[in-house]
Amino acid sequence: MTSATIESVLQEDRLFEPSPEFVKQANVSGMAAYQALCDEAERDFEGFWGRMAREQLLWHRPFAKVLNESNAPFFKWFEDGEINASYNCLERHLKTQPEKTAIIFEADDGKVTRISYRQLYHKVCQLANALKAHGVKKGDRVLIYMPMSIEVVTAMQACARIGATHSVVFGGFSAKSLHERILDAGATEVITADGQLRGGREIPLKAAVDEAFAMGGCEGVKNVIVYRRTGSKVEMRAPRDKWWHEVVQGQSDTCEPTWVGAEHPLFILYTSGSTGKPKGVQHSTGGYLLQAMLTMRWVFDHKPTDVFWCTADVGWVTGHTYITYGPLAVGATEVMFEGVPTYPNAGRFWKIIQDHKVSVFYTAPTAIRSLIKAGPDLPKKYDLSSLRILGTVGEPINPEAWMWYYKTVGKERCPIVDTWWQTETGSQLISPLPGVHALKPGSCTQPLPGIMAAIVDETGQEVPKGKGGILVIKRPWPAMIRTIWGDPQRFKNGYYPQDFKGKYYLAGDGASRDQNGYFTIMGRIDDVLNVAGHRLGTMEIESALVANPLVAEAAVVGRPDEMTGEAICAFVVLKQARPAGDAAHKIAGDLREWVGKEIGPIAKPKDIRFGDNLPKTRSGKIMRRLLRSIAKGEEITQDVSTLENPAILEQIKQVA
Ligand code: PRX
Repeated sequence: MTSATIESVLQEDRLFEPSPEFVKQANVSGMAAYQALCDEAERDFEGFWGRMAREQLLWHRPFAKVLNESNAPFFKWFEDGEINASYNCLERHLKTQPEKTAIIFEADDGKVTRISYRQLYHKVCQLANALKAHGVKKGDRVLIYMPMSIEVVTAMQACARIGATHSVVFGGFSAKSLHERILDAGATEVITADGQLRGGREIPLKAAVDEAFAMGGCEGVKNVIVYRRTGSKVEMRAPRDKWWHEVVQGQSDTCEPTWVGAEHPLFILYTSGSTGKPKGVQHSTGGYLLQAMLTMRWVFDHKPTDVFWCTADVGWVTGHTYITYGPLAVGATEVMFEGVPTYPNAGRFWKIIQDHKVSVFYTAPTAIRSLIKAGPDLPKKYDLSSLRILGTVGEPINPEAWMWYYKTVGKERCPIVDTWWQTETGSQLISPLPGVHALKPGSCTQPLPGIMAAIVDETGQEVPKGKGGILVIKRPWPAMIRTIWGDPQRFKNGYYPQDFKGKYYLAGDGASRDQNGYFTIMGRIDDVLNVAGHRLGTMEIESALVANPLVAEAAVVGRPDEMTGEAICAFVVLKQARPAGDAAHKIAGDLREWVGKEIGPIAKPKDIRFGDNLPKTRSGKIMRRLLRSIAKGEEITQDVSTLENPAILEQIKQVA
């Protein structure tokens, strides 16, 4: 961990104030209102969060204790309260707005399906009853590997309803990744689909589940429920495999929620860290749902008339918090989209906004950049007048892309909320509030009320404004990660390091703060890459590469990429002689496919470079900083005198 290398280089001084009309109607209206909330949290931290939890959530049994810090960093929030997340998302609307559309689902081919809160409630109850009939109980783990669909939300909500802990695996992950997660989570049930449709192409899912089972060790899984999406032929192995439409048949369409303690694990979501093994981030029920709701209200300024659209896949935390839980808990109408932004053409997002009158639109900088490239004037062909708020998440947004989003999509009317958060944080933590903050392109501005974010040096001292450093959160927050599934020590060491006496949450990002106290995130300070908003550990990709029989050694670094933010660059030493020309090209192609199979297509290296060896110090350490320079194509100005074998530098300058 070094902050010496983190220097704030962005000089951005444009500020965009919210319009007086926007401020007037906002849920948090004006700086004074925001400040009052922040002050309340400063003054009476527990009182503040206790008030929020009582106001937002429906408790079966009210909590008496807000925060238990006795076993820090294993913090407990509202621990003696009892609650159910699905009840909070569904029943609460049955009396007040049962016929309101909960989800507008647009399929890859454009077919639209709407489901009301009442219908969704019944659908969730039926599946919950089917799961119960399979013997799934409170605390059991259900692995979900499904396409974007009303059914995937149903599956997650059905688990929540019966107190089962879900673990969603992104449909783009390979059978191998799926296998690893089934075993690590100890899943007893898998819910999947025959396949998924994206950009007119079918991607099989059930086949990957079969492949994962063939890898062995999955005997704990008693049932595999298969939702029929594409209609393609799949192998159904009796008695384990069952069709969704058959298991729900005859099931009652009501199901009493199973009340759980607020700390009960609602879900586990695997993410990459700086080791080769993905970690299962474990989230709670009460605290998680609280901040999902609060951020819907504060950051997205949720109004009953809104049509909300978060474009993330449910396989990522963004999809959990801002598709499955947050929007439903506040009773929103939300759009859900199966396909890709460029199919049938690059106007697809803009057409969806027009057709469904989307008012709040939340997407990733990568998507914005690729849509700029595909047609900077395309948004002008569509009626985007329904929009009132734009959001981004997942990676830093470059000011040029921000300006385009602001002008061309938002017509300079819509505040952009650049929301900083992580799988581990559960909900947004640093973000402008649209009726409060003057916006600064590329900055996520200020922490939300109750979030004690700071930038420190390696010793934990806060750095002066204008300087770069390490982003930490000084106090716990309700939606935070509770532990790493099955590995509490890794949670403690990784997120509450002794460098800060175990007191601060280490986010793993470098950041700086300007004179106004606005935060700018400068990217990861650990060996984690952010490729197109997807988080990938360099070690994970390295382990995948060295698992290939041809590979002796591999080192993976990131390099800047205009479109995807960062691109994966792999340096590879083969067990055979270093290949050149066509042979190198062919092996590089094979290795890419291999990584696609080991982890998933998102992890395929963009550049592969072969060397007789890797640049190492005399003590045998790989010189990663040097590799980063080479990957970027920079002149090497670093001291290479300690390099064991300087000749390899020329070799690895070549991309295969
Ligand atoms: O580096 C930060 C970046 O994404 C990381 C978290 O990735 P993940 O857990 O996959 O969650 C992504 C969606 C919440 C962070 O450590 N990141 C996230 N949001 C932003 C960001 N970087 C800059 N600006 C953001 N708004």
